[in-house]
Amino acid sequence: MATIQAAKRALRAQLKQRLAALSDLEKLRQSQAVTRKLLSHHRYQSAQRIAVFLSMSDEVQTGDIIRDIFHQGKLCFIPRYQPRSTHMDMVRLGSLEEINQLPVTTWNIRQPGEEDCREEALATGGLDLVLVPGLGFDKEGHRLGRGKGYYDTFLERYSRHLSEKPYTIALAYQEQICDSIPVTENDFEIDEIICAGALEMPEK
Ligand SMILES: Nc1ncnc2c1ncn2[C@@H]1O[C@H](COP(=O)(O)OP(=O)(O)OP(=O)(O)O)[C@@H](O)[C@H]1O
Ligand SMILES: [Mg+2]
Repeated sequence: MATIQAAKRALRAQLKQRLAALSDLEKLRQSQAVTRKLLSHHRYQSAQRIAVFLSMSDEVQTGDIIRDIFHQGKLCFIPRYQPRSTHMDMVRLGSLEEINQLPVTTWNIRQPGEEDCREEALATGGLDLVLVPGLGFDKEGHRLGRGKGYYDTFLERYSRHLSEKPYTIALAYQEQICDSIPVTENDFEIDEIICAGALEMPEK
């Protein structure tokens, strides 16, 4: 267990370096390609309730995806994580314009404040699709996040409450695809990865 944690830490550091070397133009190019693929994906097109992250500077940029969610009249949920815990809820974002009014967290991500009473996806019917961020991914669907376990804990709670798993798609830069990712039994497997280039995932 300790070795897996150490291997995760080392890979996180390596991936952060690799991502820091990507130019803004390259990130924009890949983000646009990922967005195009997602918007034409049947899982996205048929989904009504979608969870999407507000991207940090080294993650696939999700602005155009969020715009499309509202444009298509789908429901948009975004993460609200609690600092100093592994707890995260997916709460409803009412409009595109609301984003700029949300407070910024210590991770420099916008999210609704604790006191801001919002519809929670788990309480009102779950999610048809969860778009997952992360630092690294492999073709088996293993994921390395930033080390807090927010998504693992959320998806585990989701399965416990609703007795099913939502469909999960990770959005990744090509540089985030690794040969293999060290995982423990707490790490959920993502169903699919969308990146700018070709990626064959084995059938599950
Ligand atoms: N299902 C779970 N229930 C409770 N705690 C969990 C669960 N899954 C993970 N954790 C906690 O989260 C910690 C970090 O997990 P991990 O190293 O997998 O983070 P991560 O998946 O890379 O991060 P994140 O999901 O926030 O991007 C674990 O050491 C564990 O304590
Ligand atoms: Mg994990």
